[in-house]
Amino acid sequence: MSERARVAELRRLIAEHNHRYHVLDDPGISDAEYDRLFRELLELEAAHPDLVTPDSPTQRVGGQVASGFGNVPHAVPMLSLSNAVDDDELRAFDERLRRLLEVETLTYTVEPKYDGVAVELLYESGRLSVGSTRGDGHVGEDVTHNLRTVRAIPLVLAGAAPPLLEVRGEVFLPLAEFARINAGRLDAGEEPFANPRNCTAGTLRQLDPKVAAARGLDIFCYGVGRGESELDARTFTDQRAALAALGLKVDTRFERCEGVDRAIDFHRRIEAERDELPYEIDGSVVKLDDLALRERAGVVNRAPRWAIAFKFPARQETTQVRAIEVNVGRTGALTPVAVLEPVRIGGVTVVHASLHNADEIERLDVRVGDRVFVERAGDVIPKVVKVVKEARKGRPRRFRMPTGCPVCGAAVARLEGEVVHRCPNLECPAQVKERLRHFASRGALDVDGLGEKIVDQLVERGLVRRPSDFFELDLETLEGLDRMAARSAQNLLDALERARDVPAGRFLYGLGMRHVGEAVGEVLARAYPDLDALLAAPVDDLEAVDEVGPIIARSVREFLDEPHNREEFERLRGQLRLRTPEPLPAGDGAVAGKNFVVTGTLSAKRDEIKARIEAAGGKLRGSVSPRTDYLVCGANPGSKREKAEELGVEILDEAGLDALLADA
Ligand code: IVH
Repeated sequence: MSERARVAELRRLIAEHNHRYHVLDDPGISDAEYDRLFRELLELEAAHPDLVTPDSPTQRVGGQVASGFGNVPHAVPMLSLSNAVDDDELRAFDERLRRLLEVETLTYTVEPKYDGVAVELLYESGRLSVGSTRGDGHVGEDVTHNLRTVRAIPLVLAGAAPPLLEVRGEVFLPLAEFARINAGRLDAGEEPFANPRNCTAGTLRQLDPKVAAARGLDIFCYGVGRGESELDARTFTDQRAALAALGLKVDTRFERCEGVDRAIDFHRRIEAERDELPYEIDGSVVKLDDLALRERAGVVNRAPRWAIAFKFPARQETTQVRAIEVNVGRTGALTPVAVLEPVRIGGVTVVHASLHNADEIERLDVRVGDRVFVERAGDVIPKVVKVVKEARKGRPRRFRMPTGCPVCGAAVARLEGEVVHRCPNLECPAQVKERLRHFASRGALDVDGLGEKIVDQLVERGLVRRPSDFFELDLETLEGLDRMAARSAQNLLDALERARDVPAGRFLYGLGMRHVGEAVGEVLARAYPDLDALLAAPVDDLEAVDEVGPIIARSVREFLDEPHNREEFERLRGQLRLRTPEPLPAGDGAVAGKNFVVTGTLSAKRDEIKARIEAAGGKLRGSVSPRTDYLVCGANPGSKREKAEELGVEILDEAGLDALLADA
């Protein structure tokens, strides 16, 4: 083979594997093999500079530093979207469209609304020639040098591409990449980015493409400018399929929905997944599927009538810090908390926001009176993410961690290498209360009616110091508490009685050993049905338990070796009726808790297959390893199948999976 032909072959192979890895998320060769191909190409190109072309994969980081940003006109304007913030507004959108188009029911598509930066990619004769930002919608900035570094953007389209094609999409930074970049910036003493979108925008505005190349940007394509008619698609669904066939990356999280109700349903499904997604989204985009109907609907005020952004409730708001307080937790950790001017975020009024620890306060430089951004994501405790320094009035004092525990006054310690300050006094009333609350909490003994105020009183009156004291309480004592009617006292006593019947895993969790959450409590209870064996288990033995690492093992050992803890453990064991976990039923055993990997092209949607496996209790993993139990394998599976065969992992086709799930 001539060197020229080998160069062409290498480019084809590299582009193919790049596409499999970055677009299809289904690698066909090992990273090492990919690197070998890449290196061979680099060497050939170094030896024959005349063979280097701009669309060679080696030229993604061309080393060419831009001198500024040229302007790129958008022949077809890049529009913005109007918003719907609730179901009513989405229904109103649907009604307007149906009236305008005189159609009974409209078919929509629903996909996530990515929180990134909109770009346009111009392909001429199938080659990426210009990449630009949206700008004002008519003219954007030329950021070709940076977009070429994005691995999910093909430099050359696959198959028969139209002579000219403008593809639109959103460039974004996956959350894991964002975390990695910010950690690096903090290490280097640099200001971290406020969110992935800012980081993406900042990255695209770099003159040196090496910065972008090192930042793992990604893209989802969701539209077409010029060249639309050449794609021969009548619907958006088909248009996306055409883009995918050209090697462009489109999201699998997408659904064609007949009627507005279905669109709302799918929007809700996306919302439910939001916290698990590896990238940030702020809603869904609902679009008419039929391209001819889109044409008829037209555009008003630079937004199409045929699409709408269906926003999730905002997660960030700004408000003012009234005070900074310090809480003492179960383990004595001191947590600074911002007391806020009440603000509604996502339907909930927020008054407190965590500031985590002294380092975090210093990093944010939060001071009393500051205007701050507060973020609340799902069930997560609200946190202060940024201070609006320009809005600061006067010169408020910097916050200092107290030197004495705000509750018991003990000298606060900060251990070498730890970020948290701690109250070292195990008898500190704050710690005692938090330990008791934890013991009675939902995931542990779940004692109904043992609220915060009651625990406070019980501790303050010296009636309860440790969990076992709960079970010594009598009716008379409880009736003597403030605001405790005879009826509630009896209810609480009954609840305590019921709580004695408890699975061993929840008891272990309730003890409050550091690093032992609900799941680990359960794991330990399964591994040691005989608790005496747990009490005697050496660290090595604990570490050998699946899902227990060295840190957990050491923490459990230290806790159980402490004489007071052990005494309390024994006392509780005498009071409670601990239930040892049932062994997993054999029928379930084929799926529940088993590790699955899915690969290749399957007839059902991959997400659906994954959902069915998860619903049956199986766990999905990204790569084949000795721990893999099943590989679910479709057509053209690539390296995962080889690896599974090598390791003797059971391989299932779709019918095999169906049978397995039906059995379970
Ligand atoms: S479609 C006219 N689809 O939202 C159609 N846009 O407010 C507009 N965006 O600038 C584009 N995810 O940055 C579309 N799945 C998606 C999107 C999306 C995010 C952004 C895009 C655009 C803005 C419009």
